[in-house]
Amino acid sequence: MARQDARNIVVTGGGTGIGFEVARRFVDLGERVVIVGRRRSVLERAAVELGPDVTPLACDLADPDDVEAALASLPAQVDVLVNNAGSRETPMGAGPHAVLARWRGDFERNVLTAVLLTESIRDRLTPGTGRVITVSSIAALRGAGSYGAAKASLHAWNHFLAAQLGASGITANIVAPGTVSGTEFFGPRLDEAEVSRRAARTLLGRIGEPGEVAGAVVFLASEDARFITGEILHCNGGELLGR
Ligand SMILES: NC(=O)c1ccc[n+]([C@@H]2O[C@H](COP(=O)([O-])OP(=O)(O)OC[C@H]3O[C@@H](n4cnc5c(N)ncnc54)[C@H](OP(=O)(O)O)[C@@H]3O)[C@@H](O)[C@H]2O)c1
Repeated sequence: MARQDARNIVVTGGGTGIGFEVARRFVDLGERVVIVGRRRSVLERAAVELGPDVTPLACDLADPDDVEAALASLPAQVDVLVNNAGSRETPMGAGPHAVLARWRGDFERNVLTAVLLTESIRDRLTPGTGRVITVSSIAALRGAGSYGAAKASLHAWNHFLAAQLGASGITANIVAPGTVSGTEFFGPRLDEAEVSRRAARTLLGRIGEPGEVAGAVVFLASEDARFITGEILHCNGGELLGR
């Protein structure tokens, strides 16, 4: 049951994977959570599993009309916004049309999903204690073409956002995961061989779990993190440094 002084948390992509675990952690802390995604049935299933303090909200965050329509269903005051929605659906091909589809698609799926919502509700963020946490990727620093470039632009945007929100005492930070299993992100691409290959690139010798990224998000949303802003918190088992 939500605490009397529960915070309002919005988690995009909260129906699956990392976002689902983020929502679960906030519910466990007694907060009220809205989970946002495109598939209503997935969100409703997740909300049933997470309990009565979770509200599902279907919205394509890359579509400005959809975002505008969703505004009435979002809390009037938002304490924590977690921009976690994103994906990598790489159309193959080298011709200009395929390249355009890949770059535009990755930008829409990973940057606009965060920017359209944040800009639309920035006036609802609680002065003094509000938090914006955006999930990027190790790919922002270690290649991965259009997907990595899209995630890297979140880093530049986050600095700008942190500078703008800082005067109101609101922080804006990034969590950048390495490879995480148990989500829909890779689908069948993350087979046993690929897991081993990726685990070998880390210092811990393994890939991550959604709850381990969720822990970093919840920390940045906590009172203890109030003096941290404009930062990128890497969560990759040491893969960024490598062996
Ligand atoms: N798994 C990894 O190894 C890994 C590593 C680094 C970074 N990340 C990042 O972590 C975040 C979460 O990914 P995940 O691994 O948990 O994968 P996931 O299970 O596929 O989660 C992505 C979520 O985003 C939602 N979403 C995607 N596009 C959306 C849109 N246009 N509007 C609204 N919701 C949208 C999806 O729901 P719908 O399809 O229903 O919309 C889904 O719930 C992503 O930003 C991803 O890039 C993941």
